[in-house]
Amino acid sequence: MAADEPLVLGIETSCDETGVGIVHGTTLLADAVASSVDTHARFGGVVPEIASRAHLEAMVPTIERALKTAGISAKDLDGIAVTAGPGLAGALLVGVSAAKAYAYALGKPLYGVNHLASHICVDQLEHGKLPEPTMALLVSGGHSSLLLSSDITSDVRPMGATIDDAAGEAFDKIARVLDLGFPGGPVIDRLAKEGDPKAIAFPRGLSGSRDPAYDFSFSGLKTAVARWIEAKRAAGEDVPVRDVAASFQEAVVDVLTRKAVRACKDEGVDHLMIGGGVAANSRLRALAQERCERAGIRLRVPRPGLCTDNGAMVAALGAEMVARNRPASDLELSADSSLPVTDPHVPGAQGHGHAHGHSHDHDHVHEVSKENLYS
Ligand code: KG4
Ligand code: ZN
Repeated sequence: MAADEPLVLGIETSCDETGVGIVHGTTLLADAVASSVDTHARFGGVVPEIASRAHLEAMVPTIERALKTAGISAKDLDGIAVTAGPGLAGALLVGVSAAKAYAYALGKPLYGVNHLASHICVDQLEHGKLPEPTMALLVSGGHSSLLLSSDITSDVRPMGATIDDAAGEAFDKIARVLDLGFPGGPVIDRLAKEGDPKAIAFPRGLSGSRDPAYDFSFSGLKTAVARWIEAKRAAGEDVPVRDVAASFQEAVVDVLTRKAVRACKDEGVDHLMIGGGVAANSRLRALAQERCERAGIRLRVPRPGLCTDNGAMVAALGAEMVARNRPASDLELSADSSLPVTDPHVPGAQGHGHAHGHSHDHDHVHEVSKENLYS
């Protein structure tokens, strides 16, 4: 750990976890998370207003806990990084406001960063500097994308994304149909270990020869699984929960890994990273490992605690911004619920020579798919 490496605090509030991480270069010093997931569980999904309120209550104690764990004083920091988007508008606002207040009070530079780029950059804390280029498969309750990055602070190119449900959302919805509770991923993962992945042939979305090579679709699969379960129930038969879980999971991870490996091969990229909450899935990890080995691709998957939303990933990207002399954000930084994946960070007006502005409306509240769990 070089003494001159940047010491950065990162704040993440895009969904239901209040995360505060502290990073020194690529070394993780603290990763404090307060989750409101239990509060949302009885509603079967994240309720944005409840998430915002929980962030507000958890913010200062979580920052203090992180500083204490890292054994540093806030005045030692080289910068404050925060998720500027994408995510739930009200939830993002709490983190951005807190980051601005700390940056202003301490006289430290502020870095508004992209949630998706942070999910990729976090792997530096576990496996060292990201190879350039790196292909990234990001799979969570809110996103499923294939991204190609040659520099995580400035160049993230979307290769493909889900055209309907996110991968994690599919896990959550199927778990709900099976009455397994929320979030669904971990319990389906567990039950699938005792089931037969070949028991039921569920459809592989967008896998035909004329389909887009790198896009995903999970809504047809979700409907097929739900219909299959309904038919069993209507016939008065027992639903083989473990086989359904294993066969459903296999359909999801088969498509994810096949497309990710294909994108690497097509682009001549020999490193694949997988991040986001679904990257915790044991079968996804195993199948990705198997297919990457066969294709001569090096696989990088952070440990599960760093795959789900956390503050360390934001601090990791913030530290990389400082290390590469990227311009800081203005104190007028605003949360952007639909920040494009192509913007790894939101530089200030001086930094880029022009004011930051997207063609879309900043006040527009993007429908984050987690909000649509009721559908
Ligand atoms: O990244 P994350 O914590 O939050 C966002 O959605 O941004 O991801 C949460 C999602 C949930 O949909 C959850 O069901 C899924 O990740 N998940 C899993 C597993 N653990 C969490 N999905 C499949 N297998 C798992 N072991
Ligand atoms: Zn996320």
